[in-house]
Amino acid sequence: MKRHLILFIAILALQLMIGGVVAQEQAEGGVLEIFSWWAGDEGPALEALIALYNLHYPQVKVINATVTGGAGINFRAVLKTRMLGGNPPDSFQVHAGQELIGTWVIANRMQDLTWLYEEEGWFDVLPQGLIDQLSYEGGIYSVPVNIHRAGVLWYIPQNLDSWGISVPTTLDEFYAVCSTLQSQGITPLVVGEAWTVIHLWDQVALSVLGADGYEDLWNGDLSPSGSEMIAVWDAFGRVLDCTNIHDNAAGLSWQQATDVLVAGDAAFNVMGDWVAGYLSTTLGLTPGEDYGWADFPHTEGTFTWLSDTFGLPVDAPNESAAIAWLRLLGSVEGQNTFNPLKGSIPARVDAVGAVPELYNVYLQAAADDWAHERLIGSMMHGVVANERFMGDFNQVLDIYVQSRSSAGAAAAMEEVCIQAGACGF
Ligand code: GAL
Repeated sequence: MKRHLILFIAILALQLMIGGVVAQEQAEGGVLEIFSWWAGDEGPALEALIALYNLHYPQVKVINATVTGGAGINFRAVLKTRMLGGNPPDSFQVHAGQELIGTWVIANRMQDLTWLYEEEGWFDVLPQGLIDQLSYEGGIYSVPVNIHRAGVLWYIPQNLDSWGISVPTTLDEFYAVCSTLQSQGITPLVVGEAWTVIHLWDQVALSVLGADGYEDLWNGDLSPSGSEMIAVWDAFGRVLDCTNIHDNAAGLSWQQATDVLVAGDAAFNVMGDWVAGYLSTTLGLTPGEDYGWADFPHTEGTFTWLSDTFGLPVDAPNESAAIAWLRLLGSVEGQNTFNPLKGSIPARVDAVGAVPELYNVYLQAAADDWAHERLIGSMMHGVVANERFMGDFNQVLDIYVQSRSSAGAAAAMEEVCIQAGACGF
């Protein structure tokens, strides 16, 4: 039996003993299509949630439709074609924030779920700041299943010891560690395909600008082409010089980049905590022993967050089954089935406390930080910038990687902000 199936059964047994079983919806039957990018190695947590749905609603046939590709880069294009073609799935994955609001809600493609929040009592158990990122003009448009942390610095403790380095806490320390590692033929920081490099850029920007400056950038209070941003691009260039960007990066998925870390060919990886799900659920490694984590240099005290949510599109073919799905993923039982496997923490504030033993040492630490640190919305994962910006920023990155001109990249970024209506434009 696969490891994640055993884990799922253990989670279910523990929850049944404690007794938090979700209320039944009148799901009449038929087919329910759930559309996401959680395929392959990313699949176990979603598969567990669907197995739970099948237990509650055996009369519904669930189609787990996925488009492979980390961070939804391929998925979003397919979703757009389907939505614009009048062929929406029953429910689809979308990040809280601008990816939801600035793309689908303003285009009137999603149904208001305020009534469901009232029925389920979610106003009492979901943080108001998160509900705000799902809301537009008085309506609430999706249900969050988790909170992920982006921009974590992952490493293998034994490897750092053998290379004689410790975790850097400032960019200057990182540059020093970088040259020590390069002199030993080790890649200091592994990156993968383009979106993982944008994910890294986000942390460099936060590190250089600080939390206030980073937020100002997206609110329109800090010029994308000003001197602060030139400094961001300069630092980003130095960080990139410590990576495999010109080597094999473009061909690596985030899982493959993580494999490079585990194999001991690189010292660090900057990625979201779906890496914790991959390392623990898929590879069976133990957090705190087999792998370690830290803040990206000079971002201590901040928590870069994103949330995976599901909504109800206008004209969803099987509404009653989709509403039952949304009720399940917003429940304690649903969140506690999904998150221990996914490497994320529940969006509900009462779920970890209901069965704390489900959450490993990494997830306990993340839940604690989420409750106490300064929360920063992730750009790469849809919180602070809309989809158009996220897509076009790729070109800015390309311009920089080819030209290494900080001023050129900063000017190009401003142009993209203006065209996408992001960064306060
Ligand atoms: C994020 C998503 C995570 C994880 C990751 C890698 O955008 O929110 O749940 O799937 O991409 O694909």
